[in-house]
Amino acid sequence: MSIAFTYFFRDMQTLEMIKEHVIPNIRSRRYIHIWDAGCAMGPEPYSLAIILRENLGMTFRNVKIHATDIDNSNLFGDIIKKGIYPKEMIQRIPEVIFKKYFSGTNKPDEFVIADEIKKSVEFTKHDLLDLKPVRTGFNLILCKNVLLHFNENERIEVLKMFYESLDDGYLATEQTQKMPLQLQNHFEPVVTNAQLYKKVS
Ligand SMILES: C[S@@+](CC[C@H](N)C(=O)[O-])C[C@H]1O[C@@H](n2cnc3c(N)ncnc32)[C@H](O)[C@@H]1O
Repeated sequence: MSIAFTYFFRDMQTLEMIKEHVIPNIRSRRYIHIWDAGCAMGPEPYSLAIILRENLGMTFRNVKIHATDIDNSNLFGDIIKKGIYPKEMIQRIPEVIFKKYFSGTNKPDEFVIADEIKKSVEFTKHDLLDLKPVRTGFNLILCKNVLLHFNENERIEVLKMFYESLDDGYLATEQTQKMPLQLQNHFEPVVTNAQLYKKVS
């Protein structure tokens, strides 16, 4: 499996949790800043953008998803900007969502995502292990299937950086990683069976 393995609506459970627990609490913000850390070539930030558009209505105009990745291939920026994806990556998208937000291209097995969704995602090449956040004041940080590539100390440092970069916001991370003991008073679990946390201020 490639290190950048990803596809649209890969993690339905997280998208549902964000819909249920995060969106109602951030929808009244003037601007909503989200960091998708380790976004690969875009299906994850775009899936999140679609869920936000579906649930925020016109307030979606105030959403900016800062999508970052170390991007060793140097390809992700271009792919995300074009928003064109092969059939294999979009097969899990519910039919109604697919019809609403994708259209065909001149190739039969490729589809392009709607401009409105594209505009909400901005890609920056960024190494999490530099421990320098792309900005602060985030309302939500999403970091899935990335921390497993780091050692324990690196994970702790990256999670501390996330803590510092959050406003009064949320962290959604991978199921395989438990919150390290020394950070358990920084993040409180929002649900018991999944990795969604709220920053403890
Ligand atoms: C398995 S993919 C996960 C993509 C997406 N988050 C998902 O769950 O579908 C892991 C991603 O982490 C990125 N990555 C690995 N090390 C990184 C680092 N030090 N800084 C930023 N991104 C990194 C890889 O380039 C890859 O795109």
